[in-house]
Amino acid sequence: MTSQTITADAAGRWKLADLTVSRVGLGAMRLTGSAAFHLGTPSDRDRSIAVLREAVDRGVDHIDTAAFYFSRLRSANELVNRALAPYRDDLLIATKVGPYRDQQGGWGEAARPDELRGHVEENLRQLGRDHLDLVYLRRMRQESIAEHFGALADLRAAGLVRHLGVSQIEPRHLAEAQAIAPVVAVQNRYGLDPAGSDRAASDADTLLRLCGEQGIAFVPYYAVAGRYGENAVTAPDHDEVRAVARAHGATPAQVRIAWVLSRGPHVLAIPGTGDPAHLVENIAAGALRLTGEDLRRLDALRAAPAH
Ligand SMILES: NC(=O)c1ccc[n+]([C@@H]2O[C@H](COP(=O)([O-])OP(=O)(O)OC[C@H]3O[C@@H](n4cnc5c(N)ncnc54)[C@H](OP(=O)(O)O)[C@@H]3O)[C@@H](O)[C@H]2O)c1
Repeated sequence: MTSQTITADAAGRWKLADLTVSRVGLGAMRLTGSAAFHLGTPSDRDRSIAVLREAVDRGVDHIDTAAFYFSRLRSANELVNRALAPYRDDLLIATKVGPYRDQQGGWGEAARPDELRGHVEENLRQLGRDHLDLVYLRRMRQESIAEHFGALADLRAAGLVRHLGVSQIEPRHLAEAQAIAPVVAVQNRYGLDPAGSDRAASDADTLLRLCGEQGIAFVPYYAVAGRYGENAVTAPDHDEVRAVARAHGATPAQVRIAWVLSRGPHVLAIPGTGDPAHLVENIAAGALRLTGEDLRRLDALRAAPAH
């Protein structure tokens, strides 16, 4: 693959509410530094800013961020602001609210519904915007998301937020949210190997299907990291992934991105990276067309028991 010349449009586009975006976007979580949730070495700020600008230059118009993506010295939202403001009209910046981190980076109690306005306003301040394009309610194990999602629906009605999504949900929560306000995107953990519990993997499969049927974007996270989740990938990929990659002159990460894209036109990949070379590779993955035989081999990994 000649990665250098491929732009994000190679993956095709998807209409997400009133914005049409490339199906390969960028996750901002890895821009702030190394180590799990980035309490390790903070990133080089110029390098992270260069990654964001390069992404947009290569046609990426969907960036996934959150106020709770920060390391000791870097904030993903601040980097996005610094790199990309004044923002192009066609850029979709998605944020999430629900989790809470204190100033030392520790995880606190999930936000209460009445605290969500403050969390949305924090994102507005950091990004330097007057409204947010897309805000996900990131569920924090609540049985019902109605109160939290209702609070976000009020902020949408007040004009602070244009569109709403839900993240880390079970299938029943989609209907629960839709009874309150339109849902344009679902963001759950999803990838080639079914990391997490069997239940989580099966819920993600169901949500992927439901979103496809209803024209809702499905946005998988950890599609590259797979079972490593928030940690850095430390071992070579499965033999099958490497074999498919070799056959296409591609990398395992590209195969993983191409695989999630193959699940339906409504799937929007948001690979996360702070590495300029990985960015180029991830965008080029949108041009990788897996064959029926590739998919048969890769689908078998998805069907294997979670580990
Ligand atoms: N809703 C939620 O609860 C939730 C949770 C987690 C994440 N997210 C969102 O989803 C996005 C994607 O998740 P993610 O960033 O954690 O994981 P990811 O995209 O699955 O994988 C990122 C990891 O893979 C590495 N990587 C990326 N591209 C690579 C390539 N071409 N070759 C080799 N390694 C590569 C990255 O390291 P390098 O930086 O060195 O490339 C990083 O260690 C996040 O950025 C965030 O926006 C949402």
